[in-house]
Amino acid sequence: MPRKIILDCDPGHDDAMAILLAQGSPDIDLVGITTVAGNQTLDKTTLNARRVCSAAGITDVPICAGCAAPLLRPLVTAAYIHGESGLDGPQWPEPTVPLSDEHAVDFIVRTIMESDGDVTLVPVGPLTNIALALRREPRIVAKTREVVLMGGSSERGNHTPAAEFNIIVDPEAAAAVFSTPWPVTMVGLNLTHQAGAGPDVVERIRALGSPLARTVVDLLGFFGSTYKVAEGRPHPPVHDPCAVARVAKPELVEVQDAFVVVETKGEWTSGMTVTDFTGRLGRAPNAKVATVLDRAGFWDEMVSAIAALGPASR
Ligand code: RIB
Ligand code: CA
Repeated sequence: MPRKIILDCDPGHDDAMAILLAQGSPDIDLVGITTVAGNQTLDKTTLNARRVCSAAGITDVPICAGCAAPLLRPLVTAAYIHGESGLDGPQWPEPTVPLSDEHAVDFIVRTIMESDGDVTLVPVGPLTNIALALRREPRIVAKTREVVLMGGSSERGNHTPAAEFNIIVDPEAAAAVFSTPWPVTMVGLNLTHQAGAGPDVVERIRALGSPLARTVVDLLGFFGSTYKVAEGRPHPPVHDPCAVARVAKPELVEVQDAFVVVETKGEWTSGMTVTDFTGRLGRAPNAKVATVLDRAGFWDEMVSAIAALGPASR
C-alpha cells in the first residue's frame, strides 16, 4: 500500500528531486506539496514548486504556499547554493500547474484531521509550517503517522559549523517539532552527504533521454557547481529525496534511536541538533536518526522515479 505523504519544501534543487521521487515512486502517494521560505523567499520557492510539477506533468497534487518568514528570526536564504531564483540552471517555461488558495498550514491540519491517521509529514525545508500547524491544531500529533524530516546533523552543520540550514533558519520551529511527542525521524547531513550525485548517476539520468531527464541534469549541473565553490564537494549531495526514500523503502536508510534537542540560545551553536545516541544526557530517545544510506539502492529509486515521470524523447 503506498504511503501517503505531505511534502513540505523550499525548492531548492534537492527539493525538486524530492518532489520527483515522491511522485514517481510506486511506494508513495503524494497527497500534497506545501511550500515555505528557506532556500529562497516564499514567492520563489512556491513558483519553483509549480515549475517542477509543470515540467514533470504532476497535475493532480495540490500546491499550497505557507510561511514567508521564520517564527521569530529574520529569514536567511541560500542563493549561494540555489541561485537567485532558487532553482537556477534549467530554462523554466511559465508553469502551467496552479497554486491552491489554501494556506499550507490549513492544508496540513485539514488533511491530517480528515485522514485515518495514515498521513506522514515529510518536511525538507525550515520547519515553520510544521510548528504553526502544531500550534493551530495540537490534535494532529495523535493523527500524524510519523514525521520524516530532512534537517539537522548528528555531526557537523553546513550553514555554520554547528548548524544545518533547515534548522538554523528557524531553530524555534525545529525545537517545537523535536519536543513534540510524535514519531520523528531525522535525516540529517551525516546521512545525506552519502547521496552525492556523481557522474555515474548523472549519466544514468541523461541516458533516459526525456525532457524531464535533461532538466534534472541541468539542475544537478548548477547544484554541483555551487557545492564545489561553497564546500569543495566534487559531487552535490541531494539531501531532500533521502527523507522521501526513507518513507518509500525504509530498508535504504538505516536509523538509530537517539535523544535529539535543538540549541536555540548558543552564540556559536544556535541551530545545532545535539544528538545523544548513548544516553549521556539522561534523556530517553525522542527520535530515530538516519545513519547509513544504501547509495546504490537510493539512486536506483531516484532514476526509476524520473523514468516513470518522463517518457523517453522520440
Ligand atoms: O542543508 C540542506 C537542506 O537545506 C536541504 O533541504 C536544502 O534544500 C536546504 O533546504
Ligand atoms: Ca530543502
